[in-house]
Amino acid sequence: MLADMTGMPDGGLTPERAVGGPGMGARPADGLIDTFGRRVRDLRVSVTDHCNLRCTYCLPASGLPWLNRAEMLTATEIIRLVRLFVQWGVTNVRLTGGEPLLRPDLADIVTGIARLTPRPRIALTTNGVGLAGAAEKLARAGLDRVNVSLDTTDWENYVQLTRRDRFDDVVVGLAAAAEAGLKSVKVNAVVIRGANDDDVADLLQFCIDNGYELRFIEQMPLDAQHGWRRELMVTAGEVHTRLAERFRLTPTPGYQRGSAPARRFLVDGGPETVGVIASVTEPFCDRCDRLRLTAEGMLRNCLFARGEADLRTPLRGGADDAQLVALLRQETQRKARGHGINEPDFTQPTRPMSAIGG
Ligand code: 5AD
Ligand code: SF4
Repeated sequence: MLADMTGMPDGGLTPERAVGGPGMGARPADGLIDTFGRRVRDLRVSVTDHCNLRCTYCLPASGLPWLNRAEMLTATEIIRLVRLFVQWGVTNVRLTGGEPLLRPDLADIVTGIARLTPRPRIALTTNGVGLAGAAEKLARAGLDRVNVSLDTTDWENYVQLTRRDRFDDVVVGLAAAAEAGLKSVKVNAVVIRGANDDDVADLLQFCIDNGYELRFIEQMPLDAQHGWRRELMVTAGEVHTRLAERFRLTPTPGYQRGSAPARRFLVDGGPETVGVIASVTEPFCDRCDRLRLTAEGMLRNCLFARGEADLRTPLRGGADDAQLVALLRQETQRKARGHGINEPDFTQPTRPMSAIGG
């Protein structure tokens, strides 16, 4: 279904055709626009697929066959590609993984991106385990904001969910991020039935007490084990009901969702807010402005895309900027209308979340 929705058979999508096709003569100011009129402004860059946690909803206990170093894009390669995206209208770059803090040269990547013109906003999605030792350096390199994944404040539940005893590191990491002046510090939480669904209100209290902005994300079928079941998913509606048992939630006044996927609520009249992202039950694909670059240099136009464009081979084969841009434009054009999770013929992509970048 997803592939069909592009309406473009793969056979007609060679780079040559993209360069010489209807878009010929396009200029960077035209931006990257897909066939549904959505403009790409947000680039998610996975800098590694390795991770030091084993969240049960993401990875098997044994981990995965990780990429080796030579397979992953170098900092220089990443920065070169991000430069092209920025020239073509991307204003927000998010570094992610796997766990991006496992990349020793992460600060160099941030520095390189921060030097680009126009300078994009730079964010990081991390599990927070290594954040205490990295936050200040990253902030100095130009990192603007950070999202830390934390699903519970119950130590035992954390250990069960992540299969690692690193809860205290994350708490200290969050504090270090705030201390380093990263604004904003957000917490992302996935709610799993029977694992942390009793903890949502405590997690919100923890975030309010510490000045972190909390967002709940519905679990999507992106786990390596393919164990996602719709009936097990805790919906955004359920999370809202659970939170409303302890807090008074009111829609944020005048808030437009725009391309931001979170529905935000004032907590007890504000100013604190909480976000609930209903990626599955209320998809926001029609406003999606994202592309994703994997750690080995594959460009994906959706978390659930069935195809991807290999940028690493041309990059290492000496392609010039125009050739690379043709690939960016072509993959943008192939972006489907939606993720199709709610369609009867939906099939989960082979790549798990850890190998795409959240
Ligand atoms: N569904 C929703 N969110 C997920 N994450 C990881 N796997 C899933 C999934 N299947 C979250 C992580 C992290 C972010 C990168 O994505 O918890 O916050
Ligand atoms: Fe690692 Fe993130 Fe997957 Fe957890 S969800 S195992 S932190 S990549």
